[in-house]
Amino acid sequence: MKKSYTQQKLALQGGHQAVGSIGGRGKPKIGVEEFMAVAERFGFSKSALKGIRDAIKSEDLGRGAFLANYYSGLKESKVQAFERVAREIFGSKYAIGLSSGTGALHSAFAAAGVGPGTEVICPAIGFFATASAVVMAGGVPVFCDVDESLSMDPKDIERHITPRTVALAPTCVMGSVPDMPAIMKIARKHKLKVVEDCAQSCGAKVKNKFVGTYGDFGCFSISAYKIVGGGEGGLLLTKTKREWERANCMSEGGGLWRPVRFARPRYDGELFCGTNYRMSELEAAIDEVQLKKMLAVVKRFNTVKQRIISKLQTFREIRPQTLNDTKGEVGYTLRFFPETIELGRRINDALRAEGIGCGMRGLDAPPDWHIYHDMFPLTEVNGPVPENCALHCPTYLKKGGKAVYQRGDCPVADDLHARGISISLNQWYTATDCRNIAAGINKVLSAYCTTDANAKPWF
Ligand SMILES: Cc1ncc(COP(=O)(O)O)c(C=O)c1O
Repeated sequence: MKKSYTQQKLALQGGHQAVGSIGGRGKPKIGVEEFMAVAERFGFSKSALKGIRDAIKSEDLGRGAFLANYYSGLKESKVQAFERVAREIFGSKYAIGLSSGTGALHSAFAAAGVGPGTEVICPAIGFFATASAVVMAGGVPVFCDVDESLSMDPKDIERHITPRTVALAPTCVMGSVPDMPAIMKIARKHKLKVVEDCAQSCGAKVKNKFVGTYGDFGCFSISAYKIVGGGEGGLLLTKTKREWERANCMSEGGGLWRPVRFARPRYDGELFCGTNYRMSELEAAIDEVQLKKMLAVVKRFNTVKQRIISKLQTFREIRPQTLNDTKGEVGYTLRFFPETIELGRRINDALRAEGIGCGMRGLDAPPDWHIYHDMFPLTEVNGPVPENCALHCPTYLKKGGKAVYQRGDCPVADDLHARGISISLNQWYTATDCRNIAAGINKVLSAYCTTDANAKPWF
């Protein structure tokens, strides 16, 4: 007869164990074959699929491929390998692999000391993510105008500096580069942090130094749309251990990255509440491979652009985009500014008819969050709840802050954004493709403009 519970001896006292063994056998969360079925859908080559299969098998700890950079044991995780490659390629002391470029920016701004009552100077042209990340950190973006490089105009920065300013956020625009030496000089003079947003120019250089390594923080998007990219990812470079730790606090749950993850603060101010922007192991495995190809990709793009612009004539009614470093920029777009929108329209249509892919916005284009006045989540001055809007923050108001955003604040950006013609370039163009494209541009511009050897050169 079965003994009642009160008659049974506890295992502690030499009785039978209630749970001697577990019969249920778990299945891997994601098995190798399931994983391969996903990988095959991306159309990788046979050799790449073999590499992926080998990698997953070696990762399989009995539970299936382990895809999180979390409790990954003693060996180097895929994310750590990605970070190591990033440090080696960029020559940077610290690197963090993240889930997005926006996550990199948010972590960088928080680490830089952006918070309630502070301002960050951002360029009028770039992408909304930069300004949004400032707000996410509790600060307020202030836009400065651009010059003909389409990057932050160093001459327009100082008039925006107030006692509330803590950082500058120079942003690379479509492969091009800001005048980083000039921007750094202003930042150092005013003791401001520099958060570089290099999402659109990963691998570009200014004076033989990578963008993202000038400032205190270098932020990159590693999304599929970018120069280096897998699916969704980000990379953050920092120069100091303290800033690396602060950025990690924001990006990894307030301090979960530490050797003893739940330990008390190791020093005053070490920990603060953060979010989770961890990069996944799968993304890191892809991004490590992609990052190793970066220099070759950049070189191909740059060669294509140089081949084309070296053959272009100069025209009185056209101003080519200023290239702050002709050899260092990535060169995946070729831009120029016709004298008027009307002239631009004619040139744009004629270029397309010649088979040259290009675009121009004009004044009646749909909104675009790459220019300050169309960044509606910001310009509408809302938070998730009204009290949570950085611009309504009492600390900000008490310090005299009163940012408002409207078209006309940055007239050069307004004008160039409307008037610019962008020709997209492909890294795989052959020398003949480049010759034909250059000939097409010369043909169209000669039809509508005046050749002039003294006009602004292409580089
Ligand atoms: C200049 C710039 N900054 C930041 C981002 C945001 O990157 P992600 O999409 O990886 O968050 C982008 C993406 O397009 C960008 O172009």
